[in-house]
Amino acid sequence: MKQITTQVAIIGAGPAGLLLSHLLAQRGVESIVIESRSRAYCEDRVRAGLLEQGSVDLLGRIGCADRLHREGLVHDGTWLRFGGQSHHFNFTELVGKHVTIYGQQEIVKDLIAARIERGGAIEFEVSGVSIHDIDGAHPSVRYRDSAGGEHEIRASYIGGCDGFHGIARGMIPGIVATEHAYPFAWLGILAKAPPLREELVYAHTDDGFALFTMRSPSVARHYLQVPVDESSDDWSDAAIWAELRRRLGDDDTGPPLVDGVIMKKEVTPMRSFVAAPMQHGRLFLAGDAAHIVPPTGAKGMNLALGDAALLSTAIVEAEAGDDTLLAQYSELALDRVWKAERFSYWMTTLMHVQPDSTPFIVQMQLAEMRYLCASDAPAMAFAENYTGLPYAIPLDRIMPVPAHV
Ligand code: FAD
Ligand code: PHB
Repeated sequence: MKQITTQVAIIGAGPAGLLLSHLLAQRGVESIVIESRSRAYCEDRVRAGLLEQGSVDLLGRIGCADRLHREGLVHDGTWLRFGGQSHHFNFTELVGKHVTIYGQQEIVKDLIAARIERGGAIEFEVSGVSIHDIDGAHPSVRYRDSAGGEHEIRASYIGGCDGFHGIARGMIPGIVATEHAYPFAWLGILAKAPPLREELVYAHTDDGFALFTMRSPSVARHYLQVPVDESSDDWSDAAIWAELRRRLGDDDTGPPLVDGVIMKKEVTPMRSFVAAPMQHGRLFLAGDAAHIVPPTGAKGMNLALGDAALLSTAIVEAEAGDDTLLAQYSELALDRVWKAERFSYWMTTLMHVQPDSTPFIVQMQLAEMRYLCASDAPAMAFAENYTGLPYAIPLDRIMPVPAHV
């Protein structure tokens, strides 16, 4: 078995693992990232698309936002549609913040390129990953490379950034999961089609929820609420466009919904999940490895980036001799995670048709949305959460000097 020593072994090259590795490198801490999928697979995986302002500021501060600033679509607000009418919320006016549309796979591409350009180590297509000795001062990660060679990374810390289906979470003794499954799923499509509007449209209808979002001015991303056990094969392209038109296209005040060529379609289950604690000994979880939110509030990737920012700072400070922040990592991360869980749960239950819904529940949803539209106080709370709550520590502590890649 080939052995290599580094300061941090990171499992998973998603947003959490890549940002962790990049931030550590910027602050002089070495790491190695291992990833079970190929680079092409990671760079092509269509998932999240909406960045909080804090995520954009962070990527800018570490010198990884040139393309994001060029190609990202800045949105000052969003539309909520219910009772057949569209209502606009202007985040910039409400809380002085905005959000940016930029595909998760573009962030993954940018971070992989930045790591490789600076000589960073990312090993793709590994298998048989296992974690050892997290209670001691020298934990290790073992894996097989794509050619079958056996390796051991000895490190001071392990970053478990291996997503919801990874192995790291299972290594934390006594970890407790708190979860909630929603009785519906999202059918998501990516289509060559013009945008419905310049900003996102979240629609509550009698037939179920629908969301219009985008990846560029010529690529639309739409989501439809579907039953929980639905397969994307059950939906022909024509049926998808017909349903989207029913839920989103009946807006007399807005432009009509225009069909296009569907390039991808998939069904995503809706789940809230938090595992605590997020650390044990020398193993630290970040991102989906520890928590999942339903995508309605667009929080998952933003939380993954926030965890990585906090963890990288905690490790940098511990390596410099002060492990106060590292000891508090789980507690501080979970405080922000639970607030995002609350917002995602609220927005999900507000916007979807529950299979066991009653006329009373529907009236509660409509009254809540009318209240949101009629008063600045709830609108500001919506805007504040949607554009992103502050990190546990300031940006200047995460990355003191703006970096240029
Ligand atoms: P991942 O991206 O899952 O990365 C984990 C990596 O670890 C993967 O590359 C995986 O291959 C690798 N891995 C797993 N096991 C191992 C192993 N044993 N060894 C080595 N590698 C391993 N979030 C938002 O913020 N905004 C949105 O608009 C949004 N929309 C979404 C829409 C959809 C349809 C979906 C599905 C999700 C959405 N999300 C959104 C959520 C977001 O995509 C995730 O929260 C985000 O990917 C989490 O990043 P991560 O790095 O923690 O995990
Ligand atoms: C997306 O662009 O994919 C997206 C945007 C907002 C959401 C969920 C997904 O709430």
